[in-house]
Amino acid sequence: MAPGIMEFLADQKGDIDDVIKKYLPEKVDEKYIKWLLGKPSYEYTTPAIQAALSDPIWDFLNRGGKRWRPALFLLYTEALGGDVRKVRDFTSTLELLHEGSIMVDDIEDSSDLRRGKPCTHKIFGEDIAINAGNFMYFLAFAPFLKHKDDFEPKTLLRAWNAAIEEMMRIHYGQASDIAWHKGMADADNIKEGEYLQMCAYKTGVLARLSARLAVILSDGSDELEDKLGKFSESIGVAFQIQDDIMNIAPGEGWGKETGDDINEGKRTLLVLHTIKNAEKKDRERLLEILKMHTKERALIEEAIKIIRQYGSVQYAKEFARNMVKTAWENVEPLLPDNESKEKIKAFADFMVEREI
Ligand code: IPE
Ligand code: IPE
Ligand code: MG
Ligand code: MG
Repeated sequence: MAPGIMEFLADQKGDIDDVIKKYLPEKVDEKYIKWLLGKPSYEYTTPAIQAALSDPIWDFLNRGGKRWRPALFLLYTEALGGDVRKVRDFTSTLELLHEGSIMVDDIEDSSDLRRGKPCTHKIFGEDIAINAGNFMYFLAFAPFLKHKDDFEPKTLLRAWNAAIEEMMRIHYGQASDIAWHKGMADADNIKEGEYLQMCAYKTGVLARLSARLAVILSDGSDELEDKLGKFSESIGVAFQIQDDIMNIAPGEGWGKETGDDINEGKRTLLVLHTIKNAEKKDRERLLEILKMHTKERALIEEAIKIIRQYGSVQYAKEFARNMVKTAWENVEPLLPDNESKEKIKAFADFMVEREI
């Protein structure tokens, strides 16, 4: 575990949530809607916005969530000598893109639990969850509109382009993950590189955007944007591998259902490693269970047992640790020596050593 980073995240959370509240208050009123959207053509109605956007979104955010993507963005900004105060509103860009993506992901994955409570679509309905998730994707860009006079147009355009590029990628990642868990697209023969690319797309991209926005809004070079972005993507992929490990071997406080990746039929690095190394009967049985999309505990436990039997948990853990180590070695010389640099190193380790 990396306790320092848990404390750092807890410290940042209040400020990050205050920014999000500016863009979507817990209690909406007409003044706020006018501030965000301008004058109405006819008449605004606050109760519907409250019931179908603010309530479900704040129910989701107030349950928890680590807020690590915006915290990492602030850390990078600090490390690069940028103006943290000036860029603070863009923390909401990173968090809202993430929150939107998981709210929708839970529908796509037929998940039941998120952050220890029933998923938003289970409480408020799929209609509200899809719309609220999509709204967050667009609300994430409100800081670009509200700060258009605080940055050079070319800086904002560069930041905008980066965000759009990563958001196209995230849907590419989700497409692969979904196709494979549905057993489509030759799901039984996924290569490790294809799996890693899927992770880079679905999870690495927002970590990469944290770095890219930090560099861009601090007027850093294209080269730094590229290299720090690549580092951040790699630790994001390691984060996903650790997430997949915890899905079958959870620590305390894990707010998702244990083994729901098995129910989902998800092709993780653990599964790929088992398929490659298992005896024929175990390989076939694991694939059979994955294809059942079952919620039966005994079957889920059986699949987990097969995965563990072939040392796949250790394999994935080592893989993620090596990924972080190599990524750090590549980026370390580029960062100025300061306290934030040390924290970035601790953050990278946290991505694989975390238990939440
Ligand atoms: C969950 O991300 C989705 C993945 C990409 C694995 P987090 O673990 O960052 O989710 P919260 O925001 O802390 O709940
Ligand atoms: C979530 O991926 C990634 C995105 C929403 C882009 P997963 O489906 O693997 O994550 P969990 O397990 O639901 O958190
Ligand atoms: Mg999911
Ligand atoms: Mg998913």
